[in-house]
Amino acid sequence: MNRDFVLAPMMGKTDSQFRYLVRQISKEIVLFTEMIHSNAILFGNKKMFEEFTNNQNPIVLQLGGNDPESLGKVSSMMNSFNYDEINLNIGCPSPKVKSGGFGASLMKEPNLAKECVQAMVENFNKEVSVKIRLGIDDNDIEETLDKFVKIIKSEGINVFYVHARKAILNGLSPKQNREIPPLHHQRVGRLKESFPDLKIIINGGIKNLSFQKKENLEKLDGIMIGREAYSNPMILKNIDSMVKKRTFSEISLFEVTKSMFDYFETLDKPSSIKKGLLHMHGLYRGHKQAKKIRILLSNSNYLKESKNQILSILERDEIKAA
Ligand SMILES: Cc1cc2nc3c(=O)[nH]c(=O)nc-3n(C[C@H](O)[C@H](O)[C@H](O)COP(=O)(O)O)c2cc1C
Repeated sequence: MNRDFVLAPMMGKTDSQFRYLVRQISKEIVLFTEMIHSNAILFGNKKMFEEFTNNQNPIVLQLGGNDPESLGKVSSMMNSFNYDEINLNIGCPSPKVKSGGFGASLMKEPNLAKECVQAMVENFNKEVSVKIRLGIDDNDIEETLDKFVKIIKSEGINVFYVHARKAILNGLSPKQNREIPPLHHQRVGRLKESFPDLKIIINGGIKNLSFQKKENLEKLDGIMIGREAYSNPMILKNIDSMVKKRTFSEISLFEVTKSMFDYFETLDKPSSIKKGLLHMHGLYRGHKQAKKIRILLSNSNYLKESKNQILSILERDEIKAA
């Protein structure tokens, strides 16, 4: 799987509807699901997972949890779905996740983290990866990061997505934990130098597709983009040309919008359509009629009328540009 460009997992955002939107813009970007706790799969409604498998490959399922047995069982179940990879979240610092002892807390317990990935590798037929931070709390990131990676690697994990900052487990909210601990992109570059055989994908604060070149981090195996992709998904439009190294005709705003409206016709649940409409807001960043379009999108009860108005605004742009 080519991981040059990866959409970061984001709870409440990278659901099936947002992933559908991103897939219209790029066929090559690797999509991540939201994190799902292994017990939610074991004891929950298994039918909900079918929604993840609708022609969205390449796609990675992100699991949360710290019980090797439960992670192993779920990994085995996931062989009958269409995921290209499963990933263990070892980077989330939210208080709920912390009190459950998974996410970034697992960086404190490398042996437990190792048992978790071991169970996943033993039970899943395709790639198992992890998403980590540079460290937690008072870790010295020059020392502990390499040690941690070495332990996880010993279980056959070859793919590491690295959020290039520490997680502070006490005193910071999840949002603050994505902003306050400083970014150390170059530290991820040094990790790759220590482990050249591993696939290392860098994450955190990346706002454009030429990040690796600009930061002199071309040895890394790819970039993972979260918030910028959500708030401005059209930045992803050149990915296919970059991955395939040939020019593709860029999808227009009109075409993405139209394909989303066509997709909504196939959805049964009004709540799914509502989520999809919300995810579309970022598409119009910078458009002179963005405000008007967003108001129309918020009007899900009058979708038919709003849809025609939005499409005619965007169609006029296309005619002008032609
Ligand atoms: C709303 C939101 C939800 C997130 N949920 C997850 C998650 O479920 N699993 C995970 O590993 N990271 C999660 N993250 C962290 C992102 O994957 C990413 O590591 C972080 O936002 C930094 O990347 P960025 O600067 O490109 O956004 C979330 C981030 C945001 C903004």
